[in-house]
Amino acid sequence: MKIVSVVGTRPNFIKEVLINRRLKLLGIQEVLVHTGQHYDREMSDVFFDQLQIPVPDYQLEVPTGSHARQTAAILTGVEEILLQEKPDVTLVYGDVTSTLAGALASAKLRIPVAHVEAGIRTDARYNPEEINRRLTDHLSELLLTNTEEATAALLDEGFPQADVVFTGDVMQDILLHTVKSLELELRRGDYHLATVHRAENVDSRERLTEIVEGFIQSGQHILFPVHPRTRKKLEEFGLLDRVESCKNVELLPPVGYKEFVTLLAGCDKVLTDSGGVRREGYILGKPVVVLIEITWFPAILRAGWKRIAGAKRDAIVEAIRDFTPPSEHPPIFGNGDAHERIVAAIVEKFSK
Ligand code: UD1
Ligand code: UDP
Repeated sequence: MKIVSVVGTRPNFIKEVLINRRLKLLGIQEVLVHTGQHYDREMSDVFFDQLQIPVPDYQLEVPTGSHARQTAAILTGVEEILLQEKPDVTLVYGDVTSTLAGALASAKLRIPVAHVEAGIRTDARYNPEEINRRLTDHLSELLLTNTEEATAALLDEGFPQADVVFTGDVMQDILLHTVKSLELELRRGDYHLATVHRAENVDSRERLTEIVEGFIQSGQHILFPVHPRTRKKLEEFGLLDRVESCKNVELLPPVGYKEFVTLLAGCDKVLTDSGGVRREGYILGKPVVVLIEITWFPAILRAGWKRIAGAKRDAIVEAIRDFTPPSEHPPIFGNGDAHERIVAAIVEKFSK
């Protein structure tokens, strides 16, 4: 059996790690394609080095720029590779441009697609990730879900039950694995950990200003590893000097996975608009302040561990200072064996 895996962004690399190891353990051939969507050392190479992901078999270099240009470049690049490799299945992860373009190239060649993190839904129709996820689900023959609510959403939409498999969350698997291997102590330290990169936030002067002012006006110590896109926009909107000259918010470059998990383990609260970081915060028992109105993973909200502050400075200040979750902390993302279940589901469905 041969699998082509398409990855292109920071969260894709992190999701790939344990699946790659599992496939290797079972002697299943995986051809790894890096689309080049993320390309800076601290957004790409650092994850391959730290997590010992093998050097990709194919490295595309897609242009930065509009989604259309990027999608088109990945589509044609992946098509060529698939024609050459003729895999039994193409594996795609999450909801980024590389996910949709990889799935589309594959489905058009009648090579089946397996989608890790299928079924996550919001009503934010024009959110780029929502578009990518919905379309990728419709191109996929195997829909691997990380929560029971994602499974329910797919069944409600009429996807055949036989194509939908709940596996739990591979991000949880690698997170718990890393906490254990680094022997990290989980404690509520004296700083909060922030990340901001959603297009809806960073491309809007008003929203980015509100978020930055919320951080500054909270008066609390905030460590903020900054995505390159966000740094460019902080500069463009004249906000970089304002943050750099304040006392309580500390800007960092994007950090490697081990450093990030170490910061997560020791922080008090997580302040984020990331889909992945909000899950990681919850899993490690951190109250999560969400800086966008989109409610991915409503189960965290229902459990009372997420406060949606959006991009409103007063709500952000209030949440940073006062948000206190309940003591119950139900498991939402499976048992830590998602990578094994994903590989088992792929083998069951596609091995000849
Ligand atoms: C992408 C995903 C988003 C995901 C995020 C993870 C899409 C549409 N968006 O957002 O869902 O949450 O990755 O981090 O796929 N840039 C650099 N260096 C890099 C990468 C990006 O400078 O290594 C800058 C470039 O100016 C680029 C911009 O960031 O144009 C946006 O990059 P892009 O990959 O389009 O989207 P992200 O915001 O990273
Ligand atoms: N992450 C990291 N370094 C950072 C910020 C995030 O290693 O400086 C990791 C984080 O642990 C998580 C993943 O990147 O596993 C989340 O990626 P991101 O927030 O960029 O994307 P999203 O999950 O929103 O698609």
